[in-house]
Amino acid sequence: MNNLTFYGQSTFSVEIKGKTILFDPFISANEKANHIDINTIKADYILVSHGHLDHILDAEAIAKNNDATIVSNYEIATWFEKKECKSHPLNHGGKWTFDFGTVKYVNAVHSSVLPDGSNGGNAGGFVVWNDEGCFYFAGDTALTLDMQLIPLTCPKLDFAILPIGDNFTMGYEDASVAANFIECNKIVGCHFDTFGFIEIDHDTAKDAFDKKGKELILPTIGSKINL
Ligand code: NI
Ligand code: MN
Repeated sequence: MNNLTFYGQSTFSVEIKGKTILFDPFISANEKANHIDINTIKADYILVSHGHLDHILDAEAIAKNNDATIVSNYEIATWFEKKECKSHPLNHGGKWTFDFGTVKYVNAVHSSVLPDGSNGGNAGGFVVWNDEGCFYFAGDTALTLDMQLIPLTCPKLDFAILPIGDNFTMGYEDASVAANFIECNKIVGCHFDTFGFIEIDHDTAKDAFDKKGKELILPTIGSKINL
């Protein structure tokens, strides 16, 4: 589960036990990802952290292309079911074991309305694990003390994907504190540079983690990362 592909904003796919897990697909309206064709993207499961457009835009199309199951909170899962997508509903603190591993839906401090104004429940993140490893995908969130619950309730993290772009989520300074809370040294940054409000200086961001003895990886869009 250490083979990660970055598709821009917060969109990642991870290969786990022969399954492809896609997170928060937002590609077709991302100018920085215009070299990615969503029709080439494979997914067995699509994990959606919250209802904002920059996290769900391409979920329906990719789910239907691949007959994939959308995993999200109850409100979002139900919304996709009405669009005739397969879904699995979770809610905060709950976990379910799929054929690739266990997924726990954990707290995020953020909002979550769906693009048509429907209730998107409360925003969350995911911790995913099996006998090969464990990682945390934070979704959009502020720094929150709830992150300290993750090392108390989940296996030791091998890496974590955290938002670092500021303005709508925590910035890299707070994300470096989050790395302490979750007891993880290897952080992959997301939710940066997509548009003006979240542009960051890469070297300054990496320095903030360096000083704490942590590594910040800033992937380029379309690249595979071997962690
Ligand atoms: Ni959001
Ligand atoms: Mn977002």
